[in-house]
Amino acid sequence: MPITTCIFDAYGTLFDVAAAARQAAQEPGLDRFAAHWPAIAEKWRLKQLQYTWLRAVMGAHTDFWTVTQDGLDWALEAEGLAGDTALRERLLQLYRELAPYPEVPGMLSSLKEAGRATAILSNGEPGMLDAAVRSAGIGACLDDILSVESVGIFKPAPEVYDMVGARFGCPPGAVLFVSSNGWDASAAAGYGFVTAWVNRAGEPVDRLPARPHHVLDDLSGIPDLAARL
Ligand code: LAC
Repeated sequence: MPITTCIFDAYGTLFDVAAAARQAAQEPGLDRFAAHWPAIAEKWRLKQLQYTWLRAVMGAHTDFWTVTQDGLDWALEAEGLAGDTALRERLLQLYRELAPYPEVPGMLSSLKEAGRATAILSNGEPGMLDAAVRSAGIGACLDDILSVESVGIFKPAPEVYDMVGARFGCPPGAVLFVSSNGWDASAAAGYGFVTAWVNRAGEPVDRLPARPHHVLDDLSGIPDLAARL
């Protein structure tokens, strides 16, 4: 079935989630942070995601901006930097303007030129997604920004993936779903989307009921992949 619609995860896929900590580590006055930033970035992301999964299982939804702050607070405390409110505020500010990966604008333009529908489907709440899309300058290449806040549960709950068919009126087999999060790509494959896992870090495939259909090193091959499916 031809691919009519390309759907992208946001954090880690279009936007580099380590960029906030990496940039803060280069700023003057944050020397103590500079020594810890890779560990803080990793723990921040891990806790942020764990809290989404746990809250989904517990039926205790809150928005992604809240779990982003909760994950950061855990990571700062774990690295002995709890109480540094200036650092905390700076990291959160930078998280709202995360850099996109360099190939993102060209890749989205190619998809639009080929006449495909494009959208983000993300755990992010609408305000943070709008801020990231605006600072990346990619709004004109996206037909929509779909947030889990519309269904009140995080990925990989199937209600989230249902939002794509509801918005675009296409069957799952006409959707190319793209994520750098292996668990998201696997769950979306199980749901019925054609999936591409962008495995920048060369990680092993997740041991989940379904596997991603395609594995790429970065996003630049997405327009060609969508065209030949
Ligand atoms: C998102 C998270 C999973 O954007 O990265 O949905």
